[in-house]
Amino acid sequence: MVEASRIGQSIGFTLDRFIKNNQDQFQYASGELSQLLRDIALASKVVNREVNKAGLIDIMGPLGSQNMTGEDQQKLDVLANIRFTRALKKGGEVCALISEESESYEDLNNNGKYVIAIDPLDGSSNIDVNVSIGTIFSIYRRKSKIGGPIQSEDILQKGSEQVAAGYILYGSSTMLVYTTGHGVNGFTFEQSLGEYFLSHPDMEMPETGKVYSINEGASNSFPEPVKKYLQFCKDSTYTARYIGSLVADFHRNLLKGGIYIYPSTAKDTKGKLRLMYECNALAFISEQAGGLATDGEQRILDIEPQDLHQRTPFYVGSRQMVEKAQSF
Ligand code: AHG
Ligand code: MN
Ligand code: MN
Repeated sequence: MVEASRIGQSIGFTLDRFIKNNQDQFQYASGELSQLLRDIALASKVVNREVNKAGLIDIMGPLGSQNMTGEDQQKLDVLANIRFTRALKKGGEVCALISEESESYEDLNNNGKYVIAIDPLDGSSNIDVNVSIGTIFSIYRRKSKIGGPIQSEDILQKGSEQVAAGYILYGSSTMLVYTTGHGVNGFTFEQSLGEYFLSHPDMEMPETGKVYSINEGASNSFPEPVKKYLQFCKDSTYTARYIGSLVADFHRNLLKGGIYIYPSTAKDTKGKLRLMYECNALAFISEQAGGLATDGEQRILDIEPQDLHQRTPFYVGSRQMVEKAQSF
């Protein structure tokens, strides 16, 4: 955790300065992870600019193709994927990139020490209707020898092995929130200066809350315990909030307290969300902020991935609420 005195002094710091000042917290303080975070920030500024032009230039709507998990790709999904891939390739710190938009991982730089998993654009069904969307990323240390071929041990790492994770929320303002395992910090993008500034130091998720976020329209096909938990939420006069962009729903619950649930359904027995580039990052952030993330049975960060695109049921948010949901 960042000490209180340091926080007070650091509000308003640029992201670059903050990363540099906290570089000594990384276990392998060689500067490359710092550079990698800066590359992500840079790419996010480009994507932010494009997201803000949606409606003015031809970047809305479906591309007419599907991604690896059989979902329709939007033009912005593909564009965002290109922006992040290019920035990370140029940066040179990443050896392999796992993306929602590509079937296999992509080799970037054989001498890179890091592996990244990314959902370049999360909530893409919300692009065309001007609702908040996001980017989610997880960063791992490479395990195999630098310079050699990528091994499955580099690619299929558990969430607990993340060295950093974060998200960008393209919302009423654009924010970048990340952790390197020493608490969670949030930065707000100042458009005219083109810089992220520390605005949310040492973020902590409230222990409990009143908001539950779930696509209740699908509740007929939820497992019985989830239906019972939803009844408990109603009996407790909780408030339902569901944006339909995971990043945005998660961010609200991080700030205000709440629980986000995407359970298994009759059709999708492992739920919809993807472990490697959606759930792991948000699980790491939520734990770092004092929250919890499980698949209903085990900690998300302990799941051994078998496949780049594997799905998992996801229960994430305020500690007491996730514990309560799990008790059902
Ligand atoms: P993506 O746009 O990256 O495919 O992710 C969409 C996800 C997530 O953002 C959101 O929480 C969820 O899909 C919404 O799904 P439903 O429409 O089934 O509620
Ligand atoms: Mn997504
Ligand atoms: Mn996506």
